[in-house]
Amino acid sequence: MSAKTASSRAEPLRGALGTRRDIRRRLLLHHLPLAIGTSAGLAVLIAISPSRGGFALSQLASPTGDVALVLLAITLLVGPANLLLRRRNPINTYLRRDVGTWTAIYSVVHVIVGFQGHGGGPFAFVDYFFVDGRPLIDSFGLGNWTGLAATVIVVALLVISTDRSLRELKAKRWKDLQRLNYTLFALVVAHAVFYGALTQMVSPFALILVVTVIVVLLGQAVGIWLWRRRRARTADVT
Ligand code: HEM
Repeated sequence: MSAKTASSRAEPLRGALGTRRDIRRRLLLHHLPLAIGTSAGLAVLIAISPSRGGFALSQLASPTGDVALVLLAITLLVGPANLLLRRRNPINTYLRRDVGTWTAIYSVVHVIVGFQGHGGGPFAFVDYFFVDGRPLIDSFGLGNWTGLAATVIVVALLVISTDRSLRELKAKRWKDLQRLNYTLFALVVAHAVFYGALTQMVSPFALILVVTVIVVLLGQAVGIWLWRRRRARTADVT
């Protein structure tokens, strides 16, 4: 194909979503909507949670877990959205990082409330992972091991979500580490399933899980297809 034909096919790309560093702008356009949206979502999920007679902190586990899950899904959809909207798709966008920060915040809150269901004492959390000195590998145990691995990853990703880490690790290594986000998503889905999120398929919580997984898989499939198409066109032009 001639360079002229190819370049006439090459799409002009606009700037990616949410790349401006300006903190005031991000507070207004990222953090404020995220704070309002997640609080509203959490309130709705708490309202529709089955009541177990009186309030217990552990009742917040499902709602906070689902808010973290949806936020995590959004971080995985920013790239495909850029490609779909014919925008650039750089390795770092502040939008993805800011949503990631909220994912980590809700995850940590979720882990704290998630640990409230098993009696008291400073070492009560051990019962989530071991019984009689052996690792728990029933559904409850696997739910906790996958949850623990997810927690480690989400906190690690939060720690390296800074301009300084990006500079020090260099773009490629930083991006490779950020790709742990996919592993994180798989772990969270497995964790929710081990915890019985799909046992009541008619519940809104099961629906959130299923719809989120479908949307992320579709988003990733479309993203890969668009990215390959864009790369092929760029190769044509050069
Ligand atoms: C060791 C760490 C963790 C513990 C102890 C834990 C605890 C729990 C508990 C007790 C539930 C069941 C809630 C219920 O059915 O009432 C749950 C479900 C769930 N957790 Fe975790 N969790 C951990 C880590 C995580 C992380 C890091 C995430 C997300 C980033 C997460 C996301 C979820 C989701 C999506 C559900 C399913 C909620 C539903 O639809 O019912 N969990 N977790």
